[in-house]
Amino acid sequence: MTQKVLVTLDGGVQVLTLNRTDKKNALTPEMYGALADGLERADADPDVRVTLITAMGDAFTAGNDMGDFAKAGAAPLGEEPGEKTPVTRFIENLGTAEKPVIAAVNGLAVGIGVTMLLHCDLVYAAESATFQMPFVRLGLVPEAGSTLLLPRLIGLQKASDLFLTGRKISAAAAEALGLIAEVFPDDALGGEALARAKAVAAQAPTAVRLVKSLMKSNDREVVAAQSAAEGVHFAAQLRSAEVKEAVSAFFEKRPADFSQLR
Ligand code: COA
Repeated sequence: MTQKVLVTLDGGVQVLTLNRTDKKNALTPEMYGALADGLERADADPDVRVTLITAMGDAFTAGNDMGDFAKAGAAPLGEEPGEKTPVTRFIENLGTAEKPVIAAVNGLAVGIGVTMLLHCDLVYAAESATFQMPFVRLGLVPEAGSTLLLPRLIGLQKASDLFLTGRKISAAAAEALGLIAEVFPDDALGGEALARAKAVAAQAPTAVRLVKSLMKSNDREVVAAQSAAEGVHFAAQLRSAEVKEAVSAFFEKRPADFSQLR
């Protein structure tokens, strides 16, 4: 079976590459698990100084697999006591990673493909990349603490624009909003992002970890609490008529109709 997340180590940089190109790199539990494992490995392995997350093909990721949303709606994403789902592990590990996490967004980023970026220390994007958070359109709420992190990063008005309309924005617009650090020509992104990651990997490691921690540690608990609160609503909405309609509409390739829902 093809690996859906490729893992390589290059000059102190662990590269995690999403590789489910036929489905626009939509994320499955297996893929979340591989990403979560990669982040754990990075913090445990002294040979890894930085993790770089990127993707094969023309998409970064189309977000959570829609089929899994449908399944979860039928049989709720049960999280047994003491057991965490792969997506929860991924979000938690991203929020608590001690070593820098860099993203190179090579194409469309949707849903968690954008909210994950709010936790990354550096985000680079290709000129043709786009960013979209259609949670409301799917009857869902955003996750990963993004309802706290995004308004704080770009302001309430701009965050509401992205969350409530679910509209897609360009890489240039994302850079202007401060969502990403820098935009590169499409064919230069991979090389530039790896070079930047290697430059960070070559820095004094303890100093790098301390600076990251100093910038983020005050936030950790409040972001985790927001993420947990979002998770409660997310799980409830997954079982709602709103999500049922949105997911059916996606697979039937038609617009969702919420006009009868109250
Ligand atoms: N989950 C599962 N499959 C997905 C997917 C997702 N999130 N996103 C895309 N795919 C699949 C499509 O069903 C299609 O599969 P098929 O070839 O078997 O029909 C394939 O990937 C290619 O997608 P397609 O829709 O034909 O490509 P496109 O370029 O026209 O549109 C998107 C790309 C990402 C805009 C569109 O697929 C989309 O809106 N996906 C859903 C994104 C989303 O809402 N994610 C959840 C966010 S919370």
